[in-house]
Parts: sequence; structure tokens; C-alpha cells
Amino acid sequence: MLEAGVGTETSVLSARGITVRFGGLNALSDVDLDVAPRSIAGLVGPNGAGKTTMLAVLSGLLRPTQGRVWLRGEDVTDASAQARARGGIARTFQQPELFLGLTVREHLVLADRVHFAPRRLWSDMLDPRSLLPASSAENERVDGLLELLNLTRVAKAPVAALPLGVCRLVEVGRALAGQPHVILLDEPLSGLDMKSSENLLSVFQRVVAQTDRDVSLLMVEHDVAAVLALSNWIFVLDFGERIAADCPDVIRRDPAVRSAYLGDEESVEGEPEVPVAGEGGEVEP
Ligand SMILES: Nc1ncnc2c1ncn2[C@@H]1O[C@H](COP(=O)(O)OP(=O)(O)OP(=O)(O)O)[C@@H](O)[C@H]1O
Ligand SMILES: [Mg+2]
Repeated sequence: MLEAGVGTETSVLSARGITVRFGGLNALSDVDLDVAPRSIAGLVGPNGAGKTTMLAVLSGLLRPTQGRVWLRGEDVTDASAQARARGGIARTFQQPELFLGLTVREHLVLADRVHFAPRRLWSDMLDPRSLLPASSAENERVDGLLELLNLTRVAKAPVAALPLGVCRLVEVGRALAGQPHVILLDEPLSGLDMKSSENLLSVFQRVVAQTDRDVSLLMVEHDVAAVLALSNWIFVLDFGERIAADCPDVIRRDPAVRSAYLGDEESVEGEPEVPVAGEGGEVEP
């Protein structure tokens, strides 16, 4: 696969020459990155390589010392994080920031309302004990999301009662409710057991395969085997420099990547079986 074009419709998100200096430290040095439409991109590298810094630059939380960022062909380097969110960049956090008293369904209705009917939110906020009843259009969109995320069976459960893996899915659902073009995920698998990880990965596959959405994922993840199994394209950072950018098969064999990051042959063997899209089971409460 070729890298997508910069600053054009062929690339949903592009960055060129990103450099970030913290005092004397170069957290990122001249890094280029492209995310193709409806694809999964992986961003990997050892601790301190600059992965989270790169996500902060892309989402607009951090202004780079040098370099530029484009969202669907538009230069957003000087745009705020809020403006980029409105333009279609969503992100999830390592610790899901959820309202413990609300149910899964209520989280998704609220996120849908933020995007489609922000004025209704004022009524919700004035009386936080009762959300305005969902409209039929809201219910239809939320039902679709619940199904996509394998969350239908836990829709009525308060999130406080649910395990971390389900909360991560709710976070992804909230991001999707905003109809984003790209979701930035920082270590979505951390703290999950194998079953929850596999479920999340199969949901990711289904999300990008959905024809009625146009969304890509950019995933920072320490589980390299999962990234190799899932991604269409992988970027490898080491000490703030991009040392490789290629498809998983090439990354797997890249000697620079192996010595800088993967370490030895064994570390990429035993990749998890990523369930085929559509075969993910329902999540138990
Ligand atoms: N706000 C900051 N001020 C100073 N240095 C920082 C700041 N944020 C990050 N750094 C440094 O920049 C480098 C890159 O950090 P970053 O958090 O982006 O790495 P990472 O690849 O996400 O690492 P990890 O895998 O541990 O999450 C590190 O050396 C880190 O100590
Ligand atoms: Mg990090």
C-alpha cells in the first residue's frame, strides 16, 4: 500500500515534519504520518518514543515546534482541539471518563445529542436526574451503535457496574456518535484480558468496514502483535524519530525495527487471532 497523499482528499489525516522540543529534549524530530480513509493505522515504539506526544499534536492539544497537520486536505496546524473535534478528529483516553450513574445507552444518547442537537443538552443539564426522552432518530442511531459495538445486552446497565473492556467500548461509541473521520486511540488494549482485547479488536475491524461510515483509526498500542495483526499501515517511532512506516508484513521483517523495538524473533511470534469482522460475540454484563 502506498502512503496516502498529503493535504488532499486521499488522506484523512496527514502530518509533515513534526518536531516537538521540550526544553533540550526532542520528543519528536521531523516526523511524517498519513492515515488513509477507512483504514487502521498503528503507531508503535518503545517507552518515551513520542507516541502520546504525536497524538497530542494531531488532536490539537499540543502545538508542534515545527511541522504541519492536515485534516481531509485542510491545514489545521493553527486550529484548536475543539475546532479539530468539530472537523472530525475524535480521541479516546486510557482511563475512560464516563458518568458512573448513567447507563451505556444514556452515554450514547448524550454523545449523539452533542453532535446532532446540542441545544437539547441544556435541558438535560438543568435537570441531570432525567435526560430528555430520546427521539426516534436518536434511538435509531444509538441502536445501530449498540449493535456495532456488541453492547445491546448491556445497554440498560449503569457503566459503574461494567468491566473496563465494556467501558472502553462505550468510549469508542461516544467517539463514533460524533460522526468522526478519524479516532485517535491511546493504548486501547491496556489493562484488558485476552477475551476483551479480542472483542475490542474485532469491533475496530467492523467499525472501519462499515460502509455507511467513513472513519479511520490511529492506534497507539504497546501490544505489537495486535497492531501487526490489525493495522493496514504501521508507523514506528524510536527516540522521537520515525524509523519505519510500512505495511505489517514489511514492518515484521524490518531489521531496524527489530533491533530498536521488537528486540528478537520471538516478540512478534504468537500474534493473537483477531476475530473476523462480524463474528464478535455479545458482551456479558
Ligand atoms: N510535557 C512534557 N514536558 C517535558 N517532557 C515531556 C513532556 N511530555 C513528554 N515528554 C517527554 O517526551 C518524550 C516522549 O514522551 P511520550 O509520552 O510522547 O512517549 P510515549 O511514546 O507515549 O511513551 P509511553 O510508551 O511510555 O507512553 C519522553 O522523553 C517524555 O519524557
Ligand atoms: Mg504514551
